[in-house]
Amino acid sequence: MIKPNLVFGFFVDNLLGDLQATIDAAKTPNGAVYPVGSVVQLVPTEVMIKREKGYNAVTKDWEFFELDVSAKGSEIKVRGAFEVVNKFGGNCFGCHIKAKPQWDLICEQEHGCDPITLPNGMVLSQHTIKAVQKADPRCVTKEQQQVRKALEQVSAS
Ligand code: HEC
Repeated sequence: MIKPNLVFGFFVDNLLGDLQATIDAAKTPNGAVYPVGSVVQLVPTEVMIKREKGYNAVTKDWEFFELDVSAKGSEIKVRGAFEVVNKFGGNCFGCHIKAKPQWDLICEQEHGCDPITLPNGMVLSQHTIKAVQKADPRCVTKEQQQVRKALEQVSAS
């Protein structure tokens, strides 16, 4: 579903086919309201989708998704406006609502959200986020699969 349209540090798509409008919103220097159908993804398991107008005024019509991702594809674990929590116990909406109003709940690094923090207090850097993006189990190459298999055999023996 999500093609790798990397804008800044995250991926975007548009379920209604209006990819250019979503990219324009992501690239605007002063903030914009994302068009309906926008899909925004940071790491493989965390996605936001801009739903139809009236879906939820408080979340500015964003729905949050926590996915289970494996080599077989992805499955929705939890979805919704307020109830979705990330792996580290942080509520998606609770953080993203802190983005200044002109950014339409998109955090990036400078929009006013709290940084993503691991349970041990370590802040997730752009570098770590990149590594997590690259490790998407749906996209690994044959070579990477072989390396992974070999490593599993080593650690099992
Ligand atoms: C502790 C606060 C926090 C929580 C909780 C959180 N996020 Fe984020 N999120 C951020 C920050 C900060 C960024 C920007 C990271 C960066 O670009 O370095 C971000 C980035 C994103 C992006 C990329 C677009 C953007 O806003 O920059 C998506 C999509 C996203 N998060 C979805 C989610 C989803 C879905 C959840 C819940 C499952 C979630 N987030 C929970 C803080 C949070």
